[in-house]
Amino acid sequence: MRPKIYITRKIPEKALIILEQQFDIEMWQEQETPVPYDILKKKVENIDGLFCLLTENIDKELLDHATKLKIVSNMAVGYNNIDVDAASEKEIMVTNTPGVLTETTADLTFGLLMATSRRLIEASNYLKEDLWKTWSPMQLTGQDIYGSTLGIVGLGRIGQAVAKRAQGFNMRVIYHNRTRKRGLEKDLQVEYVELDNLLKQSDFVCVLTPYTPNTHHLIGKEELKKMKETAILINTSRGGTIDESALQQALEKNWIWGAGLDVFENEPIDSNHPLVGLSNVVTLPHIGSASIATRTKMATLAADNLMKGLNGELPDYLVNNEVFHLK
Ligand code: GLV
Repeated sequence: MRPKIYITRKIPEKALIILEQQFDIEMWQEQETPVPYDILKKKVENIDGLFCLLTENIDKELLDHATKLKIVSNMAVGYNNIDVDAASEKEIMVTNTPGVLTETTADLTFGLLMATSRRLIEASNYLKEDLWKTWSPMQLTGQDIYGSTLGIVGLGRIGQAVAKRAQGFNMRVIYHNRTRKRGLEKDLQVEYVELDNLLKQSDFVCVLTPYTPNTHHLIGKEELKKMKETAILINTSRGGTIDESALQQALEKNWIWGAGLDVFENEPIDSNHPLVGLSNVVTLPHIGSASIATRTKMATLAADNLMKGLNGELPDYLVNNEVFHLK
């Protein structure tokens, strides 16, 4: 009997081929709709491995339905969609896909920073909507990037990759992280500051921290009030790190100048979301890692993690290491 796995969305062929060699596969066939929670809850009853995306809520209730599940392989670096403690309790491995998406996500973060500060989307629409009648001195003017101060909240892999890009723009880079990373400061030319100082000094605040109970609404009303009136907030981490209604207020009352958001607290959002309607905001549908090459690498890495886990090998990116040692 080959082990059974369930895949919660159509995945790139390259990843599927790896899994087909060894496993009996069932896959949710709709590209643009996630598998409903109740269906997934039924599916987990009888599988050995689960390949899922960040759209799936793998909570305790769902895990409690599993009878022989050994591994949950998440095709994402963030795994806040999974109750890791509940999985560990049931000795179920949880894996993620860090590393392969670092540069692609840093590119998007920097791109979003540029699009927001120089009003690229608004300017493009201005032309498309035939509003461009003449060149004029202050038309569609934004904020300078070159020589400005960038504050990075969360100096993990992606934060470091963003800091490297900032050097090309002669930016002063300050950072805040749960633990200071002295060993990186010289090479990356970054300076550690407390969050308060980062908010006060930065022209751009980039949130790149994982989403945990400790980082829930890390940026709220108080924090936004500390930022410069000319500052721009960029979020490519998880929506929950920012209090969206406080951000809406900050943008409407011009406490800050603008925001570039790739992530939202309850995804997907639609065009009725209050932040989408604001002219000083650039909103994207969670595309941080969305290059063809990177999404393919993430899928193959998730497949490899799953395969190793089910073959009794240590998966390359196991989140709850203790579970492997229990086996
Ligand atoms: C995407 O947001 C990821 O966590 O990989």
